Amino acid sequence: MEQSARGAWTSRTGFILAAAGSAIGLGNIWRFPYVTGMHGGAAFVVVYLACVFAIGVPILIAELTLGRHTTLNPVGAIRAITKSRFWPLVGYLGVITGAAILSYYAVIAGWTVGYIFRTISHSSSSFGSFIADPTIEVGYFVLFLIMTAGVVVGGVERGIERWSKILMPMLFLILLGLIAFALTLEGASKGVEFYLKPDFSKISGSTVLAALGQAFFSLSLGMGAMITYGSYISKKENLAISAASVALADTLIATLAGLVIFPALFSVGMAPTQGPGLVFNVLPRIFEMMPGGTIVGVFFFVLLAIAALTSTVSLLEVPVAFLVDQRKWSRKKAVIIVTAIVFAIGLPSALSQGTVPALSSIDWLGGRDFLGVMDFVFGNLSLTFGGLLLAILVGWVWGTRKASEELLLGAGPRFSALVPGWSFMLRYICPLVIIVVLLNLTGVFE
Ligand code: TRP
Repeated sequence: MEQSARGAWTSRTGFILAAAGSAIGLGNIWRFPYVTGMHGGAAFVVVYLACVFAIGVPILIAELTLGRHTTLNPVGAIRAITKSRFWPLVGYLGVITGAAILSYYAVIAGWTVGYIFRTISHSSSSFGSFIADPTIEVGYFVLFLIMTAGVVVGGVERGIERWSKILMPMLFLILLGLIAFALTLEGASKGVEFYLKPDFSKISGSTVLAALGQAFFSLSLGMGAMITYGSYISKKENLAISAASVALADTLIATLAGLVIFPALFSVGMAPTQGPGLVFNVLPRIFEMMPGGTIVGVFFFVLLAIAALTSTVSLLEVPVAFLVDQRKWSRKKAVIIVTAIVFAIGLPSALSQGTVPALSSIDWLGGRDFLGVMDFVFGNLSLTFGGLLLAILVGWVWGTRKASEELLLGAGPRFSALVPGWSFMLRYICPLVIIVVLLNLTGVFE
């Protein structure tokens, strides 16, 4: 009853597509290639895949299980399983992290919208001058926030689910087409080698932190987005299958994106280490060279913008669900106020791309610009830390025995065989690996 008053997914595929919609976004197509490029290519990819399946999937299952059990937002869900006053802080951290990630994510999402029009008009100005123009930067940023707010006001089944259904299959197909083309380019094989032939001497502590952070970011973990989405799933669904499907779909899209970017990158002779601008510099070159490239390019950026939208929706949904459930705000009021706050926090990110020099390179954080600092602090550290706490919370405080009763609802008896493995990973491996990686953090600043 409670559940239907808040809204619920209308079907299994509806949920998987919405959760995959949250997971698949700029993290796969913008962030994964540039982070891979900065950390040496194939060896990073191997570490990343290990992080996704050994750390990400157990925590994804934990978040979905906690959400479905309590049918609540992160703060409410944690309050429902423990009386402690400490643990709800993890929920608050998630709510804040959601707003903080949204604040810069919407800036980059705005670029994808801008690139729809730049592709149509065959704009010849550089990516650098595009993002340095404050009117353009702030304009597209605001546009994207308004679109996100519009979807979230509609609520889960009308807003979020409807968008996700059409998009993912289309994005998959267009990536396949782009890979086929990129592989035919001269010099593409050097890119394939960089991307797929691991050189393990390139792995250091900062590589592992980057891979772990990327796994959390890409799977939308560590801040309660999947607790919130889990709270809308019916008890009839098999959570283990749902989690595996989401992780596979997300990983597939990211790895395919790499197969487009790296062959093309090496073919045009650009550096893999250039950072966040990577895909915005490379993709237009592909579309220029490709027969029918304008149409393909426009189509691609439209799909990317929608993929970003289904992700920003899940970021905004966390603080909104918190205010609606815990503070009894109306959905509309919550959306308007959170969006306004996110706009304020996001402005310095939008202006850090060449407009305001003081925001463009911050020395004490490795020369990152303001947007890069936000991405590192919230998109990596805060998620990794939140993931650690959630693993301990579900693994030890709530306990995997109680959690697995919820997990097995709708899963059929066969699945009970998987519980010990999941429990072991969640209780021991996840906390241990994350703690070791975070203790290595000092290396990141060198
Ligand atoms: N996973 C999304 C992407 O890869 C971004 C995202 C959406 C996210 N919701 C999240 C990241 C929650 C962390 C936490 O683009």
